Amino acid sequence: MQNKKITILAVAGSLRPTSTNIRLVKDIQRWAPADIEFIVYEDLATLPAFDDSAVEGEPVAKWRRQLAEADGIFLCSPEYAFGIPGALKNAIDWTVRSGELVNKPLALVTAASNGEKAHAAWLQIFSALSANIPEGGALLIPFIKTKLNERGEIADAATKTAVEAVLQALINAIKQMAAGT
Ligand SMILES: Cc1cc2nc3c(=O)[nH]c(=O)nc-3n(C[C@H](O)[C@H](O)[C@H](O)COP(=O)(O)O)c2cc1C
Repeated sequence: MQNKKITILAVAGSLRPTSTNIRLVKDIQRWAPADIEFIVYEDLATLPAFDDSAVEGEPVAKWRRQLAEADGIFLCSPEYAFGIPGALKNAIDWTVRSGELVNKPLALVTAASNGEKAHAAWLQIFSALSANIPEGGALLIPFIKTKLNERGEIADAATKTAVEAVLQALINAIKQMAAGT
């Protein structure tokens, strides 16, 4: 860890070309600390519907590999129809047996119109999977569309501060894990 850059894999739980969550992770990528490698996962749409009786193809293998190689995960999820988005849940289901998220430092941002239900559901899911969401590592951003400008940057100062704090909590958790504390 001393010589290696911390790697964070950011995953937006939306496939929509105009996605607020994709814009959010890309904005964070622009201003994340220079000593962090903040990689945006771009292949959510390539993952087949979960079926562990099927032969796993390269998209699933690559997803698992990227998760395993990352020191931490930064998820940004919308809420659809009072629930979590199916594409991201499908991606997470592919990790349940292989266990890439067990003890993995993970930050969760739910960015939606309201988002309370999806946020609560994700917290339950990541608890079940034994992911390591550190204190301060989960944030609900309601009214997300009013908080991004036309360039996809976080334009609301309080939201920017809150997202920075979530990223810092994740980085601290990664460092603590590396130090064995
Ligand atoms: C099909 C659909 C269903 C939605 N349902 C909800 C909902 O139940 N609760 C909520 O807070 N927002 C809901 N929204 C609003 C989205 O969470 C919000 O627009 C968010 O920014 C979408 O994220 P995305 O642009 O990254 O896909 C819904 C949006 C869509 C497109």
